[in-house]
Amino acid sequence: MVDFDTVVDRRNTGSSKWSKYPSDVLPMWVADMDFPSAPEIVEAIKKRLEHPFLGYGVAREELSACIVADLQAKYDWAVSPEDIVFLPGVEPGFNMALKAMLSAGDGVLVQTPVYRPILNAPAHWGLTRIDSPLVATDDGYKLDLDDLAAKLERSKAFLVCNPQNPTGKVYTREELTAIATLCERNDTLLISDEIHCDLVFDGRKHVPVATLSSDAANRTITLMSAAKTYNIAGLKAAFAVIQNKAIREKFTQCRLGMVDSVNILGLEATLAAYTHAKEWKADMLAYIQANRDFLSAEIASYLPQIRLIKAEATFLAWLDCSALDLPSDPQSFFLQHGKVGFSAGSDFGAEFSNHLRVNFGCPRALLQEGVNRMVRALQARSL
Ligand SMILES: Cc1ncc(COP(=O)(O)O)c(C=O)c1O
Repeated sequence: MVDFDTVVDRRNTGSSKWSKYPSDVLPMWVADMDFPSAPEIVEAIKKRLEHPFLGYGVAREELSACIVADLQAKYDWAVSPEDIVFLPGVEPGFNMALKAMLSAGDGVLVQTPVYRPILNAPAHWGLTRIDSPLVATDDGYKLDLDDLAAKLERSKAFLVCNPQNPTGKVYTREELTAIATLCERNDTLLISDEIHCDLVFDGRKHVPVATLSSDAANRTITLMSAAKTYNIAGLKAAFAVIQNKAIREKFTQCRLGMVDSVNILGLEATLAAYTHAKEWKADMLAYIQANRDFLSAEIASYLPQIRLIKAEATFLAWLDCSALDLPSDPQSFFLQHGKVGFSAGSDFGAEFSNHLRVNFGCPRALLQEGVNRMVRALQARSL
């Protein structure tokens, strides 16, 4: 079993997460885990550095073949190496997709709350964002299918995030089938951000929307990466799977001199992750699933006014703090009075200013400390 309990000081290492706040603040915001990457990945990078030529990179055939085999094994999804387009990130990928396939004024559906760069992307290209809210229930986040159906009629693309950031929702096969059917009916492009696909809990299975039918395969741009699962986001490597050749060609043209080739060490790290780090991943997943349960139990015991619907995936928890009736938004409140830095709910949609996103991808001791800081901040208020 890998040791995920040890807390390592990440300050002054150029970590975005640990540089944002003063040193007395515990950062629990950006989706970056406080675990070292798998030793197999670190070894692969060291080995690559023994050949100290670090010019422009290109994915080796071995990497494409490894991804093809991985998608087949995990999802029974048969893709060809040519269907894969390597990218320096998933975020550039969904922006390229919108730019390539839509025209100014077109509608883009998103489901809120959602990761801020997804919320912001349509406006970068003069597109109109159409929000369809997820419905919070005690049994998880659900789709409002009537709302979705009505809004998809006006949408040229659906930019879906599955598993979902920040709610941790895993779309079920039935939900995805309903979405794919509606997209077929309206001829809507599917852009599916599946960056969190390897982080699903409780034995659930991730279903790539492109695997549902040949029509879905033909209208979907899927975006994936080893970045979140293996904690290598700083290495800037991701990929799109686009089985429709015409869409793939348009997409690729939209690099536009801005989306560069992929980091050469990121490509090596991705290959090592998918080839050698399966055991590390299984251990890490068990650890963060236990963290999820620990956080839910702590909140139920010590912060019962907070509504937390358990994440089905990701290392992110979405907390509804409305009932706390705080004097300011919860992110500012807990930062000021608890010295703990979460992501603000409003980052995920203007109407979520009473929410918080907590990153629980960290050693249990840090998670416990984060909860303690919240509790202390609330106790100080009631003194
Ligand atoms: C849903 C989602 N998409 C994309 C990204 C960013 O991916 P990248 O760093 O590969 O652009 C993140 C990072 O948190 C994310 O949560």
